[in-house]
Amino acid sequence: TRVLVLNGPNLGRLGSREPDVYGDTSYAGLVERCGKVGASLDLEVEVRQTDDEAELVHWLHTAADDATPVVLNPAAFTHYSYALRDACAQLRAPLIEVHISNPAAREEFRHTSVVAGVATGTIAGFGLASYDLALRAVATLVA
Ligand code: DQA
Repeated sequence: TRVLVLNGPNLGRLGSREPDVYGDTSYAGLVERCGKVGASLDLEVEVRQTDDEAELVHWLHTAADDATPVVLNPAAFTHYSYALRDACAQLRAPLIEVHISNPAAREEFRHTSVVAGVATGTIAGFGLASYDLALRAVATLVA
């Protein structure tokens, strides 16, 4: 099964970005990790990142058309992008929302996710292992 792992703004800077919050593994390291975990689950994983809301919405449209399962870290868009939520609502295969940190334990503005209500489920707070768990969720759901 093919799975898209989509990452929103600033996640391309993993490793150098606030390492106390997001860890010191680079974005390239995340891509490698998702590939390996995916392979172990018999998933064909494609990992992408963009800082551009329009590009992320476009990728979701494609996933909706193809009925591709999606693991999505919407990053800051989580908290305010109704355009992203509306794109997510069109998906026909499982959508797993992931966060590296636990937004519920952080600033007030991070406590709201406009995506959560249209996701199959959410995994947050386990560092990069959140992605491992999300891929496992996809594997379980599509089995
Ligand atoms: C994040 C949490 C968001 O609040 C933040 O804006 C991010 C990353 C996470 O993975 O913990 O960019 O989605």
